[in-house]
Amino acid sequence: MKKIIFPLCLIGGLLCGLTAMAGPEEDRLAMVEYYSDRFPDVPLQEFANGLYAFDTIAREQWIEMEDFPPYEIAIEDGQALFETPFANGKSYADCFENGGIGVKQNYPYFDTDAGEVVTLELAINHCREANDEEALPYMIGPLAEISAYMAYTSRGNEMAVQVPSDNTGAVAAYAAGKQFYYTRRGQLNFACSSCHIQSAGLKLRADRLSTTLGQATHWPVYRSKWGEIGTLQKRFAECNSQVWAKPLEAQSVEYRNLEYFLSYISNGLELNGPGSRR
Ligand code: HEC
Repeated sequence: MKKIIFPLCLIGGLLCGLTAMAGPEEDRLAMVEYYSDRFPDVPLQEFANGLYAFDTIAREQWIEMEDFPPYEIAIEDGQALFETPFANGKSYADCFENGGIGVKQNYPYFDTDAGEVVTLELAINHCREANDEEALPYMIGPLAEISAYMAYTSRGNEMAVQVPSDNTGAVAAYAAGKQFYYTRRGQLNFACSSCHIQSAGLKLRADRLSTTLGQATHWPVYRSKWGEIGTLQKRFAECNSQVWAKPLEAQSVEYRNLEYFLSYISNGLELNGPGSRR
């Protein structure tokens, strides 16, 4: 295999991340600037479409796929699950603001009382457990379908993740997620940033590498390779395995912090989930 050598810390520390002690909003703006320079022809909102924002051939195939979206059944099944009352007569709608409709843009959020990041999937299981139902597995299956339905009702809303600067727990969780993104790991010794920042737009095997900006707007995703709908953290695990690093458990503290960072970076982009990918 041809070895790609990545340049070290360029442009104001964005590429190595950790040297910059920047806050979330500075990070986000730096990402917007970096990718806008790198892809001058791509309008900002387009980054929500991942590699299809700049790979014209893959984009054509994707647009064709979206004519009969492979995630449609998951939305329908997810809605049926969402609307089925628990054994105690209550339902998911009772657990969420606005009955759970159009709320995904606010996830993940930092729960100050529990001192942890709460993703939408974690909140769905918290809701089940509070109603004496068993927690569902996190990567695929009914939980991903419920998440797909909730994402669908949030389409078009702008990502609006909050990291309150006066909340030390939230700031620390965001910083830990950011650190995860920039830390090299696995036998190939790649960080998430090595591929998705330094090498964004370049080809790795069959695919061009997507940008950090927009990586969190369209989940869950139906992937042809998976043959089913899966959550963002399933993708984290796959990208960890790709560099021969041991994947962590879905909804581990580390992956939730990572999702918090990644989602904040997409603030201002419109939600377009569920999505379809190869
Ligand atoms: C060796 C390179 C490599 C590394 C390192 C890597 N990825 Fe990926 N990642 C890919 C490839 C290839 C794809 C599929 C093409 C694409 O969408 O970027 C992908 C896809 C993704 C996607 C889906 C994008 C979409 O539009 O649906 C996310 C999210 C993602 N990676 C996150 C991460 C995270 C988080 C890490 C670090 C834990 C990471 N990646 C590390 C290669 C990598």
